Amino acid sequence: MANLLSGLKEIESGIKEFMIGNREELESFRLKYISRNGLIIKLFDELKSASREEKPMLGKHLNDLKKLAEGKFESFKLQIEESEIRKEVIDLTLPGRNFSAGSEHIILQTLNEFVKIFREIGFKVTNGPELEDEFYNFDALNTPEHHPSRDMQDTYYVMHNSKKYVLRTHTSPVQIRTMLQNKPPIRIICPGKAFRNETVTYKNYFMFHQVEGLWIDEDVSFADLKGVYTDFLRRFFETEELEVRFRPSFFPFTEPSAEIDMAFGAGPNKGQWLEISGAGQVHPAVIRNFGLDPEKYIGFAFGSGIERLAMLRYGIHDLRLFYDGDLRFLQQFA
Ligand code: DAH
Repeated sequence: MANLLSGLKEIESGIKEFMIGNREELESFRLKYISRNGLIIKLFDELKSASREEKPMLGKHLNDLKKLAEGKFESFKLQIEESEIRKEVIDLTLPGRNFSAGSEHIILQTLNEFVKIFREIGFKVTNGPELEDEFYNFDALNTPEHHPSRDMQDTYYVMHNSKKYVLRTHTSPVQIRTMLQNKPPIRIICPGKAFRNETVTYKNYFMFHQVEGLWIDEDVSFADLKGVYTDFLRRFFETEELEVRFRPSFFPFTEPSAEIDMAFGAGPNKGQWLEISGAGQVHPAVIRNFGLDPEKYIGFAFGSGIERLAMLRYGIHDLRLFYDGDLRFLQQFA
């Protein structure tokens, strides 16, 4: 048994001194000590011939040795793998890879284009909050308490510091905010997000982008609305031949009111009309809420849907594509 004991000692110092610096050395270590033909297994074989008294002590020694070898193997394996990963990350000698730097989303591009044209026509850009007071979103816009657009099914209500707010359902509250701080003549647009708790379809989403427009002066007529908006559409679609209709409609904050539709030629919706904007002559009650005399001041307003305009401009038949995050779609507009 002196044989076995000295073998143990020898192997123990061998394991401790073995230098492992790369994968080849790691593999030689494994073969020499841990593998099926390794030294440790051999000693286990020899253990069978040890005496009954010595077996437990030698067995324990041998098990410790096995753990020592396996422990060393695992920790060097980890070190080598980590250093390989580190090398990969900081290898500055590798040639650069092609990667996409991202680009402006198609909806933002469309919004910017809309804004650019109206600035050229002479409108200033304003802003308002997305988390809005019910007063600005509804009351001041002549939308009384019982009006269906206040229904819980459409409007997202938010409690904050025990006060009830709404995620604005349109950009129209900016009309009020702007008019309470400025005197006519006023010509503004307000681009931004609006939110409605609506069923998502090819033309509706729970969040969408609108541009609100407002022109208030002493002699602005419905004819001006038609003229300005048609001029905008010609520039936006870069054509004189537009299939547009101003369809009589109703909004609490305008009288008369119209919805502006365009022929929708794309995909399964071919031959239909798509509503792109609400519009109208600002209601006298709203002019009064602006703090102005409706006998003196008059004007028009509109609220246009950017997703809808982008669908028409690029021939997209389903607005859900804008928000699916599919790069194959988005990169076409990069
Ligand atoms: N706020 C309306 C909506 O989101 C659109 C609208 C209609 C805006 C008429 C206006 C307007 O400014 O005059 O459905």
